[in-house]
Order: sequence, then C-alpha cells, then structure tokens
Amino acid sequence: MKQLIIVLLMSLVFFSCKQEKKEPKEELIMYQSSEMAALMNAMYEGNMTIKNKILAGESIGNFPETYLNIHSAVLTDPADRNTSFEAFSKLYIQDMQQVYSGSKDSLKQNFNQAVNSCIACHKTTCTGPIPRIKKLLIK
Ligand code: HEC
Repeated sequence: MKQLIIVLLMSLVFFSCKQEKKEPKEELIMYQSSEMAALMNAMYEGNMTIKNKILAGESIGNFPETYLNIHSAVLTDPADRNTSFEAFSKLYIQDMQQVYSGSKDSLKQNFNQAVNSCIACHKTTCTGPIPRIKKLLIK
C-alpha cells in the first residue's frame, strides 16, 4: 500500500514537471492543468514575446499584473507552496518588475536576471522545464 502511494506521488510529480517535450495543447488533453501550471505557461509565452521585442528594439509595455498571481495560484501539489517557494516567487516578481521599470540600457541584463530567477526556483522545485526556460535567455 505504501509503495502504491509512493508510485502515485511520483507520477504526479512526473506529470506536473516533466512536460517540456510536449506541446501545451497535448498537455491540456492529457491532464487537467493546475492554475499554477497555466500561469507558468502564460509567463513562458509572455516572456518569449518580450525577448523577441527586446531583440527587435520594440517597446515592451507594462509589467503584466497577472504575474502577481504566482502568490495565490493553486499548485498541482499545494505542499509545494512552502517558505522557499514564497521567497523565490518574491525574488522573481522583483526581478520581473525591474525589467519594466529599469533603464533601457540594462534591459537585456535585467531580462536575463528575471529568467535566471525562474530557473533558480525551478532548481529547487520542478527541474523538468529548465531546458525550455533557458531558451528565453538572450545571448
Ligand atoms: C517560485 C518558484 C517558481 C518560479 C519563480 C517560476 N516557476 Fe515555473 N513552476 C514552478 C512550479 C512549482 C511548477 C509546477 C506547477 C504545478 O504543476 O502546479 C512550475 C511549472 C512550470 C512549467 C510547466 C507548466 C506545466 O504545464 O506543467 C513551466 C513551462 C514553467 N514553470 C516556466 C516558468 C517560467 C518561464 C518562469 C519565469 C518566467 C517560471 N516558471 C518561474 C515554480 C516556479
């Protein structure tokens, strides 16, 4: 019985964090995406758009307030919202706000710093999407 529970828990982790090879559409069909997973995918898309705008020298607009939902969105495993998660999400929001309010000269640097704070949190909780997130970095 204990082993069964462990296997179930492991497959839950697998589903929530090892989806990087699948397209978002496929994921939606395969399993019910958590609020947090949906927010994460939106942040990924949003930041890919910003990356392309920075590379094209276009204006990036305003900080998307929806990103603040990282403080409340329901996780696949609610136990993941621990003190470490809270600390990393605060850091991430600070870095992301700096992208929008900082100087134009340091835009690329500030953007990469925000992406690195995505990666920093993922190293502690959910390593699966890291290779995908690294694609956001501006070289
Ligand atoms: C504070 C920690 C933290 C930060 C910051 C963070 N993530 Fe996540 N991310 C998670 C956790 C935890 C999950 C698993 C969510 C779930 O399954 O409910 C996740 C899931 C994901 C997923 C997979 C979603 C799915 O469909 O399963 C992607 C992609 C992702 N994050 C990208 C990003 C990007 C891009 C950023 C920065 C713009 C970012 N994350 C910032 C913790 C974080």
